[in-house]
Amino acid sequence: MTDEQMTLGFDDLPDDACHRLEPGAVLLRGFARGDAPTVLRAVEAIAAEAPFRHMVTPGGQHMSVGLTNCGALGWVSDRSGYRYAPRDPLSGLPWPPMPTCFGALARAAAAAGGFAGFEPDACLINQYLPGTRLSLHQDKDERDFGAPIVSVSLGLPAVFLFGGAARRDRPIRVPLVHGDVVVWGGPARLRYHGVAPLKDGQHPLLGARRVNLTFRLAG
Ligand code: SIN
Ligand code: FE2
Repeated sequence: MTDEQMTLGFDDLPDDACHRLEPGAVLLRGFARGDAPTVLRAVEAIAAEAPFRHMVTPGGQHMSVGLTNCGALGWVSDRSGYRYAPRDPLSGLPWPPMPTCFGALARAAAAAGGFAGFEPDACLINQYLPGTRLSLHQDKDERDFGAPIVSVSLGLPAVFLFGGAARRDRPIRVPLVHGDVVVWGGPARLRYHGVAPLKDGQHPLLGARRVNLTFRLAG
């Protein structure tokens, strides 16, 4: 089967549709589109305090994704491993607080995905430029896997790779556009996932960029 055939027909989803990817995982088409301009202004303010940077993996590679954080805890990586930390290692200061509108969006999306009562304490903000990719991984640095992951996609379209419980399981390819939200938790919480290399393009709000926010209960 070719990659093209593995791409599901999400391009035809109507606005505001909720598509179940598998038990515990949904795509909320366009869920964040209305909030996007406000969210992006807040991202700019956060990045002015805690700039996007390319963190080093434990293996010594620089990640192609640029990242920063807001909230009580931020995801960090260095030679000693991956973890959540209350302070930005670049400045030594606490991460910028999570804007109220971020928490409200994450709670509403989690509830729409079947996870009422989600209270994230961490928001990882990833920036993708054309060519940037995120290899298949599990989100497992959080203390408790009872809470879902809420992932908000803004700017250029991307192909989200949603895999299985094992790295070797072939991922489905889920095209994401500006304003889409993916929520996964429960039986899907530890699924492997990643992002295919970003195609070049221009987005009216973000230019040649994709910004993704992932909300988590980390601590
Ligand atoms: C992530 O897995 O942390 C981010 C996924 C994405 O950018 O869609
Ligand atoms: Fe992830």
